[in-house]
Order: sequence, then C-alpha cells, then structure tokens
Amino acid sequence: TVEAHFDQPTAKASPMLHGLMTEEINYSYDGGLYGELVRNRTFFTDWEGAPYWRMVPKGQAKATLTIDKTTGPSAALPHSAKLTLESVGTGGSAELENQGYWGIPVRPHATYKGSFYAKADGSVGSVHVAVVGDETGVELASADVTLDGSGWKQYSYELVSHAETASSTNHLVLSIAKPGSIWFTLVSLFPPTYHDRENGFRPDLMELMAAMKPTFLRMPGGNYLEGDHIKERFDWKKTIGPMVDRPTHRGPWGYQSSDGMGLLEFLEWTEDLKIQPVLAVYAGYSLQQEHVNPGKDLEPYVQDALDEIEYVTGDTSTKWGAERAKDGHPAPFKLHYIEIGNEDWFDKSGSYDERYAQFYKAIKAKYPQYELIATTPVKTVKPDVVDDHYYKSAEEFFADVHHYDKTDRNGPKVFVGEWATREGSPTPNFGAALGDAAWMTGMERNSDIIVMASYAPLFVNVNPGGMQWESDLIGYDALHSYGSPSYYAQVMFGSYHGDEIPKTETTGDELRFFSSITRKSENGEIFVKLVNATSEPKPVTVKLDGVSSVEKIADVTTLKARTLSATNSLTDPKNIVPVESRFERAGKTFDYEMAPYSIAVIRLKAK
Ligand code: AHR
Repeated sequence: TVEAHFDQPTAKASPMLHGLMTEEINYSYDGGLYGELVRNRTFFTDWEGAPYWRMVPKGQAKATLTIDKTTGPSAALPHSAKLTLESVGTGGSAELENQGYWGIPVRPHATYKGSFYAKADGSVGSVHVAVVGDETGVELASADVTLDGSGWKQYSYELVSHAETASSTNHLVLSIAKPGSIWFTLVSLFPPTYHDRENGFRPDLMELMAAMKPTFLRMPGGNYLEGDHIKERFDWKKTIGPMVDRPTHRGPWGYQSSDGMGLLEFLEWTEDLKIQPVLAVYAGYSLQQEHVNPGKDLEPYVQDALDEIEYVTGDTSTKWGAERAKDGHPAPFKLHYIEIGNEDWFDKSGSYDERYAQFYKAIKAKYPQYELIATTPVKTVKPDVVDDHYYKSAEEFFADVHHYDKTDRNGPKVFVGEWATREGSPTPNFGAALGDAAWMTGMERNSDIIVMASYAPLFVNVNPGGMQWESDLIGYDALHSYGSPSYYAQVMFGSYHGDEIPKTETTGDELRFFSSITRKSENGEIFVKLVNATSEPKPVTVKLDGVSSVEKIADVTTLKARTLSATNSLTDPKNIVPVESRFERAGKTFDYEMAPYSIAVIRLKAK
C-alpha cells in the first residue's frame, strides 16, 4: 500500500527538477547535435596529415595536397589545405574529399547550405562542389562556385538534393579542373536545422529533447569544461563570434572540437527549448591534476567567469552584453544558477575550497541574485547548492532510493548534476530504465531539497569509434536517432511533475517496488508514479488521504518490457515506448495491478 497524506502539510517540489546535462563527448555536438556535416572543416592535423580528408587525382591529372602552415584567413585559423593541380592530362581534375561524420547524410529534395574560405591563384577559376555516393559515384547534389580575386575570401553555395531516398554513405567533394593552386579552410555544409537556425542544430535530436519537457541545460560540461590541461579548458572567449575567429580545441574525450557549438550556441539551444542555462564556469582545475593556485593566479579566471556571466546576462550597455549583441543576440538570457567547476573532488591538491570561495565572493559581490553551485562540499563559505553525481547499477540505485530522505533541509540545496544507471551499451536497456525510474521516485519525493537533476551523458553517436562512454540516453547515426528505454522513463517523469509533495508511507512487500506521488496545485491533478522492478505482477493499493474526491477514470502511461535486457536501437527504435491507457476504477483508495518489469504514471483528476 502506498498512502499519501494530503491531509498534512505538503512540501514544495522544485519546478526545475528535470533537466539536461551536456558536453562534447561521444560526438555529441560535432557529429551529433551540431548541424555541421563536414568533419575537420578547418584541417587540423595529426601525425598523418588532416584526418577525414583525402585528395584524389582524377584521370591523368597530377595533383598534390599539403597543409600550408603559412597562410590562413584569420589569426585563429592560420593554416590551410593547399590543393595544387599540376597538370590535367585529358579531362583530369583534382578532388578534395571529406568523409563527414560516418558519412554525409542526404535526404530527398533537401537544400544544403555550404561555404568555404579559399584563396586561389588566378587560373583555377572555379570549384565544383558535390555530395557523391561512396559506392555509386553518383552526384546527389552539386554546385559550381566561381572564384574571384587572389586573397582569402568566404564563398557560399547551396546544394539541392535530387536524391529520391535518404542515404548517408556519401562524401563531399571539392574539385578543380584547371591547373593552379587553391588554399581551403572552414569548409562547411549544413542541412536544414531546427527552427532554421543558422549554424544550428539537428531537428530530430532537438525534438527528442523537447519531448523530455526539460527545464534547464547544464552546460558546457562535464569534463569538457575542464579539459585535460588548463590550456584545453572550455575557454569560452575563443568559442564566440564568427567561425573564422574560433581556433577549435582538443576536448578531453580524445578528439578535436570544432567549437561551432560555442557559448552563444549553447544559449540558443536553451532558447529554442525554452529552458534555462545552468552555467558551469571554469574554476581553475583540469583533469590531469593541473590547478591554478587560489589568490593572484586565479584572478584572471575569476574575471573570465564574471565576463562570461555578463556575456550571458548583461544588457547591451555592458562590454560583454554588447559583444553578445554583436554576435547576433542583443537580448540577454535568463540565468539563475552558476556552477563553479566540475567534479573538483578529483583535484588532489585540495585547492577547491579556496578556489570556490574566491569565485563565490567575486560573483556574489557583483551578482548577489544568483545561486552558486559547488561541485563538492566546501567549508570556507556555505554554497547555495552542492552538485552530487551518481553512476550506478540498477541494484545500487534500488538500494539507495532513500538517499535524500534525511538530508538536512537547512544545509545547501542539492543538484544531482549527473546520474545514470549504467547498464546497456551504447544506450541503456530496460533494466537500466527501472533503476533510473526507481532513483527518480527518490529524487522526486525529495525535490524540496533537490532543486535540479540531469541524466548524463545525453548523447551518443553509435558508429564505431563514436562512443567514449557507454550507456547514453539518446543514440544516433548520421540519419537516424532513437531514445533508449531510460529516455522514455525521463519523458514520463519530466512530463508529469507536480509542485506539491505529500508525506507518503509504503507498507507491505517493498521488494524492488518504488513510488512517488505529487500534486499540481493549479488543478488538483495527482501523479502517481509506480515502479515494479520484479518479474512478477504487483498488486498495489493507493490511498490518498485528505482529498475530497477522485474521478473514476484516470489516464495511465506505462513503459514495460519482458526482459531486463530488452532495449531500443537504431534498427528497432520503438521496441520499448510508453503506452497510453485508461484506468476506470480510480478513487480516493484504489487497487492497481502493476505489470512485471513496468513503470507507470497514473494521472488522477482530484479535488
Ligand atoms: O558524464 C561523463 C563524465 O562523468 C563527465 O564528463 C564527468 O563530469 C563525469 O565524471
């Protein structure tokens, strides 16, 4: 029996409980949410040359490709790819090919917007740009770009696909057919984006996130905020403004970030989803045990954080607010929570307490209205919120669902900034969804003290080499995407979250059974969430004390599976999805039978 005491004072649930956590991991942005289709568009090099590019001489042409460190269009992009066609023979040409992020996706009759920076000697004349089938060699879309002048210039083009079916086994080709040299960088190609935003996001992934009804985005990390080394941190000032002024940087998850998803793009992402940013500022610690000493050494980093907050929230009369307006967004963004660092318990020097205090004092002096999150408990000042992270098995979560029941309500509030049941790969299976749902009942029951929570990681590109971290909420390749069972558990919990939490008691057989009940004060609707993580059906009695009436007919959303290993995938994306039904025997007290391995949200119309 689950008994909810609406006859006693209820606690206030956080309206921001369910949100999103993000960082550049598993090709979450490049090769994921960020629409850009060209991989390594700025020709960064490793010991073998510029990865994901190759030069193919056609016919009897003689041609070379070199990386020229002496010329580029900007201080941020000082080098470029030099393609030289020495001789064409009969009808030859030189092709520069990019393989994209595991292919270049092309949909039927879609328009692709492209551009590149180039400098050419006078004889090259024009560049033929095309998306070509890997096996077929057929051009699915193409355009000719006429070059002018001899200095660096940005050229734009549009490719309109005449393909009849969608495909991703394609590559991008830039070819020249007249002898001469041409230098390229920042070669870009965008498909249609969510809300047609320039430099924008993949629509399917944005829609999947929107369906989760999130309230915030913790950005930009995660380890990605910190980087392996101080010089590889998320240095936000190098991620704003025109792409040609962004130098790109190496992230901690083993690959170069294009930084096309810079600070403003993160903020626009929150704008598109109508949610708030939870801004994580770099706090002077990087993953390879590098830290900045508190005091004088840390001051420039504190100033960077203050500038960053001004960039996000300042009006156009402020220096950084004006910079944001120059970047195309005059309106300030709403902000309430700022996180100082990420997982600073890893800093063996023990410097976080002092570093946090230094950031805290400087930020509070200028922005007393914001709440500041510490990434681990500190003593020098009392943080407004502390960020706890949990990566566990389902059984571990089952055993820990009462974790916050006794937390001191007078201490700092809690942000569960990263959590996940790590079962299933690349995306979690149904067993993990049960662990998640159980844990979410515990967070929801304690959402008077837990102000926010976000599952991590959010995204994974499921192609070979795309994943650095197993068990990620949403999987995709170049063309398709899907939500894991854990994703659907999030959709259910995010969609139905009341603002009042009654005291509840559970009696009887509690083996792998979990519940939480909340009420929406606005209309009295009651959300009963039940989790049966056993292989047997589970009869449950729900008692609602202190309500005057409950309508007989209730709506129910159920997520269930036959086995714990059942899952969704690119090839079977809807194997496990929530199912809607009606329950016709609801009341102030009612019996409900939970299916084996199931998660249910019962929505009761009550007064
Ligand atoms: O979510 C993956 C990683 O886990 C995050 O980058 C880091 O904060 C945590 O250790």
